[in-house]
Amino acid sequence: MPFTSDAELDLLFPSDQIPAFVRKQLPAELHIRPLASTDYRRGHLSVLSVLTVVTDPGEDAWRAQFEALRAAPRTYYGIVIVDKASDRIVAVGTVFIERKFLRGLGSVGHIEDIAVDKSQQGKKLGLRIIQALTGISENSGCYKTILNCSDSNIPFYEKCGFQKKENEMAKYAPTDRPQTPRL
Ligand SMILES: CC(C)(COP(=O)(O)OP(=O)(O)OC[C@H]1O[C@@H](n2cnc3c(N)ncnc32)[C@H](O)[C@@H]1OP(=O)(O)O)[C@@H](O)C(=O)NCCC(=O)NCCS
Repeated sequence: MPFTSDAELDLLFPSDQIPAFVRKQLPAELHIRPLASTDYRRGHLSVLSVLTVVTDPGEDAWRAQFEALRAAPRTYYGIVIVDKASDRIVAVGTVFIERKFLRGLGSVGHIEDIAVDKSQQGKKLGLRIIQALTGISENSGCYKTILNCSDSNIPFYEKCGFQKKENEMAKYAPTDRPQTPRL
């Protein structure tokens, strides 16, 4: 498939919100941009599957989820790195902006779902995704950007400028109920 430029795509948010310094540091054969409405066809779910179990919901349901994210403006920032030669996605990540009542109506950026295709790991793409998401978070006015990770990924996030703080707690819901919000 030939490379599709940002102008030809229906994007989750405007491209110019991705910091220019990150764009400049990517190799010429790669392109960083917001998630697009047709990225189901560019391998979005297969890149995410390096992270955890991914159940393919089909393109229509994927698209409905994309529209649900976009319906909350200035909140969800999903980004991708695309290999221009194949027009396939090779890295993904998201930051969502939480608006608070404390700290003078402060905001916090939550980084989620960082994944780099196995064939492209170790080439600084994970770092570029984190730099882009942190830049979006800070440019959105967030006073901090946070994330959860496994022990084995702590050194990676330290290289990205993060420090270990506090603990994560989780409670999984019973599995015998719907796992997605009702539309
Ligand atoms: C973890 C992951 C996102 C890192 O992305 P990547 O593109 O492979 O990493 P980068 O090339 O950007 O690494 C940046 C730096 O971190 C280091 N690094 C990366 N992963 C590391 C690890 N697990 N342990 C120690 N150092 C690591 C790199 O060596 C590099 O260091 P350098 O600047 O000294 O060369 C990627 O390997 C991945 O998708 N893994 C599987 C899914 C996953 O675990 N996602 C994170 C969920 S919390």
